[in-house]
Amino acid sequence: PGAEYGYRDEIAAVLLSEQDLRAKVRELAVAVAADHDVDTPPLLVCVLKGAVMFLTDFVRAMPIPTELEFMAVTSYGSATTSSGVVRILKDLDRDITGRRIIIVEDIIDSGLTLSWLLKNLASRNPAAIDVVALLRKPEAVKVDVDVRYVGFDLPNEFVVGYGLDYAERYRDLPYVGLLGEHMYR
Ligand code: PRP
Ligand code: MN
Ligand code: MG
Repeated sequence: PGAEYGYRDEIAAVLLSEQDLRAKVRELAVAVAADHDVDTPPLLVCVLKGAVMFLTDFVRAMPIPTELEFMAVTSYGSATTSSGVVRILKDLDRDITGRRIIIVEDIIDSGLTLSWLLKNLASRNPAAIDVVALLRKPEAVKVDVDVRYVGFDLPNEFVVGYGLDYAERYRDLPYVGLLGEHMYR
């Protein structure tokens, strides 16, 4: 896999196909919409860059209006494990006081990014904050963050694609794949 997109011998296997992702994203969109009111659109905060593919598919599957904001944070750089130090690369463009916020994340691994983000956004006095994460790794249970909507629980393997990168590569794959071990060992 991957060769059809110009990645040769880099992706060991497809973990979640385009069809798997499409079905799950629809399911999540319907579940989140059911908890919200058509007349008070939630403000979705997409966590760049990883969540961009998920966000764009997710909002288009939502049967209620939503508004969009983007925040760019990073804790990884080009490493395969989280440094734990979260930096804001791009902040929100507006005040979120009194708004219902939904943080849209691609993956929760150590949970450090999300727990930092929840504290940061909570300090801006929104009406409520929920989290929708497409993927979650086993380590995430160690951090006490309340994630209301989760797509898939994954084994502890290095996954890329559908927004997820390794050193900025592979985000453009339309599926979630397992990165070949020789790529990072
Ligand atoms: C990745 C991923 C999540 C976060 C999860 O982002 O997109 O945001 O790490 O890891 P954690 O639970 O261990 O904190 P990254 O910092 O690599 O930035 P990116 O989204 O631009 O790739
Ligand atoms: Mn990210
Ligand atoms: Mg990354």
